[in-house]
Amino acid sequence: MTTSHSVHHGDALAWLQTLDTASVDAIVTDPPYSSGGMTRSDRAGSSTKVKYTGDKAQSEYADFSGDNRDQRGWGYWMSLWLGEALRVTKPGGVLVMFCDWRQLPTATDVIQSGGWVWRGLVPWIKPDSRPQLGRFTQNAEFVAWGSNGPMPIEGDCLPGYYIARAPRANEGRQHITQKPVDVVRSLVRIAPRGGLVIDPFTGSGTTGVACVHEGRRFAGCESVATHHATAVRRIATAQGAAVPDGLQGVFDLGEIA
Ligand SMILES: C[S@@+](CC[C@H](N)C(=O)[O-])C[C@H]1O[C@@H](n2cnc3c(N)ncnc32)[C@H](O)[C@@H]1O
Repeated sequence: MTTSHSVHHGDALAWLQTLDTASVDAIVTDPPYSSGGMTRSDRAGSSTKVKYTGDKAQSEYADFSGDNRDQRGWGYWMSLWLGEALRVTKPGGVLVMFCDWRQLPTATDVIQSGGWVWRGLVPWIKPDSRPQLGRFTQNAEFVAWGSNGPMPIEGDCLPGYYIARAPRANEGRQHITQKPVDVVRSLVRIAPRGGLVIDPFTGSGTTGVACVHEGRRFAGCESVATHHATAVRRIATAQGAAVPDGLQGVFDLGEIA
């Protein structure tokens, strides 16, 4: 079997439009939530590192893009790329998408307005979340998933929930909203071994790293140059490949036997 991995530097919707129809086995992704922060102005602010940490000192994380849409704008934009994502996915292929509690109702609506069959929610419990005085602790994010029409009854039985800490700064975290590799390794197993998984919002490349470990092919897209470079570096390192110079545009990490 061969596995191949590539990361495109650019806009997700424009990139999806270049992919062949019915060429993808699964989309495993984590789009900007346009959520977070404590106030509306936090959400519309330009700096994601301040928004997500409330602390300018956490400046080792580059800002990321697309996180300041208002609610209607976010929903409209989501259905645009989700419709294109459906076109590139094989019949019976799967969409797996992270979202938070605030965007959950819109997320599950736009999955369906994008033409997907909404199949369910997989909670991701973060056991070390900070307790909130007089409130329920916000210690869950969600993985909403769906399929391009009917799904075949085959493949692995996967968990209905995950309990995992988010990567910490002292554990080599590269992106302020980086997801745990172990959780994403399990998620990409929704695609057949050797199948093509894409992530239009690659960030630091966690889905690509997971695909390397699980023997799935990967293609990703990331709009911020710093994160694109991080993704290429992390995926190449996971693959045991040399990390090349010159990380602009399409960068193909090639095929390995
Ligand atoms: C929530 S983060 C993904 C984090 C990733 N799961 C990880 O573990 O590192 C979303 C990423 O999508 C990127 N992004 C936002 N809008 C985009 C667009 N239109 N096209 C491509 N990437 C985009 C952001 O820069 C950000 O890095």
